[in-house]
Formats: sequence, C-alpha cells, structure tokens
Amino acid sequence: MNNIVIIGLQWGDEGKGKVVDYLSENADVVVRFQGGNNAGHTIVIDDEVYKLNLLPSAVLRAGKISIIGNGVALDPYALISEIESLKIKRMNIDPHNLMISESCPLVLSVHKEKEKLFENLNKNYKIGTTNKGIGPCYEDKVGRRAIRLCDLEDADELNKRLDTLLNYHNTIRKGLSCRVIKKEKILREIKEIAEKILPYRKPVWKILGNLVKEGKKIIFEGAQGTFLDIDHGTYPFVTSSNTIVSQAMTGSGLSSNAYVIGVVKAYTTRVGNGPFPTEQKNEIGNSLFTIGKELGTVSNRKRRCGWLDAVLVRQAVQLSGVSGIVLTKLDVLDSLDKIKICTGYQYSGKMYDYLSASHSIQEELEPIYEEFPGWKKSTRGEKLAEKLPINLVKYIRRVEELVGIPIHLISTGPKREDIIKLKDFEFSEGVFVSY
Ligand code: GDP
Ligand code: IMO
Ligand code: MG
Repeated sequence: MNNIVIIGLQWGDEGKGKVVDYLSENADVVVRFQGGNNAGHTIVIDDEVYKLNLLPSAVLRAGKISIIGNGVALDPYALISEIESLKIKRMNIDPHNLMISESCPLVLSVHKEKEKLFENLNKNYKIGTTNKGIGPCYEDKVGRRAIRLCDLEDADELNKRLDTLLNYHNTIRKGLSCRVIKKEKILREIKEIAEKILPYRKPVWKILGNLVKEGKKIIFEGAQGTFLDIDHGTYPFVTSSNTIVSQAMTGSGLSSNAYVIGVVKAYTTRVGNGPFPTEQKNEIGNSLFTIGKELGTVSNRKRRCGWLDAVLVRQAVQLSGVSGIVLTKLDVLDSLDKIKICTGYQYSGKMYDYLSASHSIQEELEPIYEEFPGWKKSTRGEKLAEKLPINLVKYIRRVEELVGIPIHLISTGPKREDIIKLKDFEFSEGVFVSY
C-alpha cells in the first residue's frame, strides 16, 4: 500500500501538520481533501515556525508535489497570501509543485458575511467558528449554487452563476434588513484574484490516477478531527465537512486503498464551543494550557484542555479503520504527579462505552477515569525509545490496550526531529510495516 491517510482522532490540533511533515520525507505527494483555511497546521524546522492553513504540509520539502483536492473549501485570497508569505521565506511554490482541483468551491466575501450574521443571530447554539466562511461555502456547494475554481475562466458562466448565488444571499439579507450585495462588487473581487489562482487549476482526480500508476507514494492530510466531523462529530458543534477517512477519497477523486494513521494528543483539547466530557476547568486544565502552549493556530483563542478520552479515540479508530496511532505532546505531561485516562462514561445511572449522538447526553456524561503515576522526568526532545521513563511506557501501552491498535510513533516536542519510532514498527519506503 503506497498511500497513507493521516487524520485527527479528537477535536483537531492533534499535531497532524508535524506528522505529515515528518512522514512526507519518504513520500512524493501530499493531498488536502477537506476543510479550508479554518485549519492551522504547525511545523517547526530549525527554530522557524511555519503555520499552514490551506497548503499541504509537503510544500516545505523540496521536490514534493502538493495537491488541493475538490473537497477543500478554497479561499483564493487566503491561498495566494499564504503562497506569497512562503515565497518571502524562499519556498518554491508554482504550478509544477502545487495543483488545485478545478472543482473546488470558492470561499467569497459573501460567505464570511453570512457566517458573522448567523453566529450573531444564533442564541442557543453559538458554534464559535473560525470565521473563515467555511460553513456557508459548503452550504452553497451542497445547495448547487457555489462558484467553483473552473468558473473563473468562463465569463458568461460566471455571470450566470453569480446571479444564482446572489439571488439566494440577497433574499436572506433583505429578510434581515441588511444591505444587498452588488454583483459588480463580487465580480471585481474575483477579477483581482482570477489570474493569480487559475494557473494552479488542474483535473486533480486524473493527475492523482496517473501518479498512482507511476507508483508514487501519496499522503492524504486531514484537517480538523473526528469529533468535528459533520456526520460523526458533536453536532451541531462541528465543522461543515467530513473529517474521517472516507472523505480522503471523495475529496480528492482518487479511489484507492490506504493505510490509515490517526494522530492523538496525549491529552485532549477543543477550540470553540461544544461538549467536552473530560475538560478540566481547574489547575490541571491550566497546566496543560500553559505547558502545551494551547493557543489556537488560526484564531488565537485559548484551547480548552482536559484528560485523554480513550472512549472517543476508540470510536474514532472504528469510524476510520485506523491501523496505527501517532501519540503527540507526551512531553506536556512530564511534570504531572498523576495522569488520568477516561475509559467510559456514566449517565443517568447507566454505563456508556461510546459517545452518544445526543447533544444533551454528551453534555451530561460523567467520565470514569483510570489513574496513573506520572513519570516526573523531562522527555522533551527525547529521540531514543530506550530512554523513556518506565511510567511513560506503561501509559502508552495502556493507551494501546484501551483503543485496540498500536502506537507507531510518539512525538516529544514541536520540532521536526522530536519523534520516536517505537520498536515494533518501521516506516519503510513510504509504507508502514509491522514485524
Ligand atoms: P494540527 O492542526 O493537528 O496540525 O496541530 P496544530 O499545529 O494546530 O497544534 C499542535 C501544536 O502542538 C503546534 O503548536 C505544534 O508545534 C505543537 N506540537 C506538535 N507536536 C508536539 C509535541 O510532541 N510536543 C509539544 N510540546 N508540542 C508539539
Ligand atoms: P486543524 O486542522 C481545531 C473548530 C472551530 C469551531 C468548529 C467550527 O488545525 O486541526 P468552522 O470555522 O470550521 O466552521 O468552525 O470547528 N475548528 C477547529 N478546531 N482545529 C481545527 O483545524 C479546526 N477547524 C475548525 O473552532 O469550534
Ligand atoms: Mg491546528
């Protein structure tokens, strides 16, 4: 199997960017297949911090191909500014190494305006979105009125499509007594960006098919996390795309088998509102926030922090057929006296071994914890498995038992090289093998 899908198994920010960057050394192509610039993937190379939003994490390695698939909500202005900021840092990004699906729906100013309007109106379920217009863009995609990248090349088509799009948005805006949006304004905005973005336009599904035939190794880079999935997450406190493995195929147009790797933070974080059974609104939560530097990459909001929830991770493993885990940010637990893992929930006198779909149950779950002694030793930047403290090894072995699959790699710091391969696994020739 030449393909690997990397997805988050919690509420995002598990460290996917770092893992994709590490594994892409042995790959040829990295593909984004959902989400948009609501994602923030951090990669630290030689003390330089890169925060990628729309660009696949391979752009930082010379000679790799980066692909943005049809499942991505593409903000063309954000993308061009991301490309320009990387060019200043001497990264080479051009249509030879970056290709964007011509079917990508575009995020336009109307989407950001709609998101703001409705977050303000929504009294009971304020999601706390990233305000990037991602949800409204996907609404228009499913409503069959989105402007897609390919439409920018055809003035007549664009004109007609804009009529349909603005008819919808302006009807809503009039109902809310907001000023209507003029077609000329949007056309002007689109003209500004079209010639910069169109050179990247490609039939990505076809190119991916050829890359597979050539035997290239492809990594699919997930954004967000399993419990932000529109179908399987903590609805309505979710993002507007599918974040689980099946979206890698739908969102790229490639039908192929893949090895699925889940990225799990050694504790849990969540940005924005919504249920979070193991949240610690206390000294523990504060320590995780401070030591883990848990500030949102995109919106700079404080991430809520709590204990690792093995029930959630086990559920995510099943939903995506995950074969192996990369456990990140273990070093953040170094100084704790005691460490807890949630192994089940109690609700209304009953035991639950899964997260119910019901929002009201999710909010009321009482976690059941197993407690472990801490290792009280710095592991930050550790690169040798044999130097890991025994209590840490016991902790990761117990996580493996609880979620039912092996941990392949552990991450001990933000830097590219802060990673340990566990001994039973090898990432060889771009493919994971166990022995
Ligand atoms: P992503 O969205 O899943 O790519 O994750 P983010 O980049 O939003 O958040 C992860 C944060 O943790 C980033 O600041 C990373 O630099 C940092 N990070 C990743 N792995 C580790 C680790 O093992 N230890 C520590 N201390 N920080 C890490
Ligand atoms: P990465 O890829 C963490 C959250 C937002 C909000 C909800 C909906 O960096 O892991 P949206 O703007 O998508 O409509 O917001 O989803 N969210 C993320 N949280 N990491 C992310 O991406 C996220 N992308 C969206 O905070 O709660
Ligand atoms: Mg992030």
